[in-house]
Amino acid sequence: MSNFKLGFVGAGFISKFQAKAMTQIRGVDLAGVHALKGAEELADYAKKSGLGDCVVYGSVAELCKNVDAVAIFAPNFARIQIMQEIVDAVKAGAALKGIICEKPLGRTIPEAQQLVDLAKEANLPTAYFENQIHMKGIRAQMEQLAPVQASMGPLALARSAEEHAGPHEGWFWDPTRQGGGVLSDMGCHSIAVGWYVLTPIGKPATFLQPVAVSAVTSLLKWGIPKYRKQLLDRMGVDYGKVPAEDFATGMVTFKNPETDQLVQAQFTNSWMYDKQGLRLLMDGLGPGYAFELNSLRSPLEVFIGDDAAEAMADSETALEKATASRGLLAVETNEADLYGYVDEIEDAVKCFKEGKDGFLNFAYGAEITKLCQAAYMSAEKGKTVDLTDTATLEELKTYQSLISQGRGAEILHVG
Ligand SMILES: NC(=O)c1ccc[n+]([C@@H]2O[C@H](COP(=O)([O-])OP(=O)(O)OC[C@H]3O[C@@H](n4cnc5c(N)ncnc54)[C@H](O)[C@@H]3O)[C@@H](O)[C@H]2O)c1
Repeated sequence: MSNFKLGFVGAGFISKFQAKAMTQIRGVDLAGVHALKGAEELADYAKKSGLGDCVVYGSVAELCKNVDAVAIFAPNFARIQIMQEIVDAVKAGAALKGIICEKPLGRTIPEAQQLVDLAKEANLPTAYFENQIHMKGIRAQMEQLAPVQASMGPLALARSAEEHAGPHEGWFWDPTRQGGGVLSDMGCHSIAVGWYVLTPIGKPATFLQPVAVSAVTSLLKWGIPKYRKQLLDRMGVDYGKVPAEDFATGMVTFKNPETDQLVQAQFTNSWMYDKQGLRLLMDGLGPGYAFELNSLRSPLEVFIGDDAAEAMADSETALEKATASRGLLAVETNEADLYGYVDEIEDAVKCFKEGKDGFLNFAYGAEITKLCQAAYMSAEKGKTVDLTDTATLEELKTYQSLISQGRGAEILHVG
């Protein structure tokens, strides 16, 4: 049987990571790529890494005609346009078996809904990429704790954090293009993984009903004049005028519809985590049992003293968003696998071959967008958002956060 042909729209940071993940999966080729920048380099990598004869296409339509499934790995602000082009290509005869979209599905609830509606128009299976739910560590703790959960009851509290020192491209920092700050960018991961680990084993990912969200958003580092200037010089974004939050934390309360039990997922996200590099920290507490996962606790550390620092190789090969190249450094040898990219691609391809949605579909992605937007609304209003209140749900349908409108200065403290 010939290999499944995957095509990427976008050839930046996540595309490179996902291509690396694909080298660890059998039966899938990176058959094509379309991007405004970086496509040739990615195609070269694919060819050299045994991912097949990757072709650079000049349009989304051409790509769709030549692959089995297409993955949207382009920036948040380009989602709708790219999705529309995919749907048009399908209507014109492209025989796709599925569409993948990276997080966040939309920058607002209407945008996420538009993605869901467009996929329905094309009548195609979808996979929403939330890698943390596919992390082997997350799946393994569930497997280990399943018998304990069956006798003691499910987890009652989950805490999830994703933090690093800040994104790699200017558009992430611009709230009007990205959809907000760190809450929009990484809160979606932490809220999703919190919801997932709290879900009783064997129940669907949306079994627990979200009933309330409370959050705060703050600008703790990148609003200070010295760092604001660094951001302007490095990323071309002026937080004096158009700030976004570099820290967000909050709580989502869920109800178990069978038992009425309330459980809570706390999330914490920052772009001001000035430690070794990216850290994912998740824990869960149930009656009489618990789990904890810390992605920075690697079995491998290296030490580089001051005298040797000049000879250091690229520190990002050791760890995503690494901030240091000397001292005691954590090294993760297979980040594409650690963070769940390998398993999420494997799942999507397997499901598309069977003619069905991935483990998480676009409708699920739209639910995550709703929870993130409810968190922005809570932070703006300074109160808990009640998701059982019909007037609030109606307000959320058209809500756009002040921060994403470029009006962050109205609620964030710019130093
Ligand atoms: N799951 C994760 O951990 C994770 C990590 C990083 C990024 N992401 C998500 O992946 C997406 C891409 O992020 P990134 O870091 O790769 O961004 P990036 O800026 O590094 O790369 C974006 C790529 O898309 C291309 N592009 C831009 N506009 C385009 C258009 N209209 N048509 C075709 N190509 C276009 C660019 O040329 C570039 O190749 C974002 O939605 C981001 O939220 C997810």
